[in-house]
Amino acid sequence: MTPDAATFREIELEHEELNELFLAHQEALLALDLQLADARLDNYVQRLLRHMAFEEEHLIPVYVRVGTVPGGPVEFFTGEHARMREFLERFRGAIEDLRSNFSADASAHGRRVIALFDAEAAYKSLVEHHHMREGNLFFPALESAATHEEKKQLLERFHRERRS
Ligand SMILES: [Fe+2]
Ligand SMILES: [Fe+2]
Repeated sequence: MTPDAATFREIELEHEELNELFLAHQEALLALDLQLADARLDNYVQRLLRHMAFEEEHLIPVYVRVGTVPGGPVEFFTGEHARMREFLERFRGAIEDLRSNFSADASAHGRRVIALFDAEAAYKSLVEHHHMREGNLFFPALESAATHEEKKQLLERFHRERRS
């Protein structure tokens, strides 16, 4: 890519990949394949944690240079990340519990799965909100705040981490 084409859009596009991974986890959950649902959730969590760590360690330091962004104080982004991590811990616990305390009563088992879907729906709405805020405020502010050289270096790091 030419330096002029350097844009953080590539990082934002990772949101779509993450949403797909979460849906793949939900498909397994719907099929009551708890082992697969667990493995896919793990994969999603690892990828999401890497994405959020990159934003927190490398992008937020650039973002704060912009100063006050109406509707986008840095605590909103880090706070949402923290809530997302909390949700995911709960999901992992719920699946672990479903796997180890399997209920022979199909109805009781089904209801526990439905409760997990309900919690996951709340999580998905948080994530949708978070991605929208990043798309409307965070990434546009970064585009104008980062120098060409910074953008190039950050994108190189982003791609290097994803290859390793
Ligand atoms: Fe993001
Ligand atoms: Fe984020």
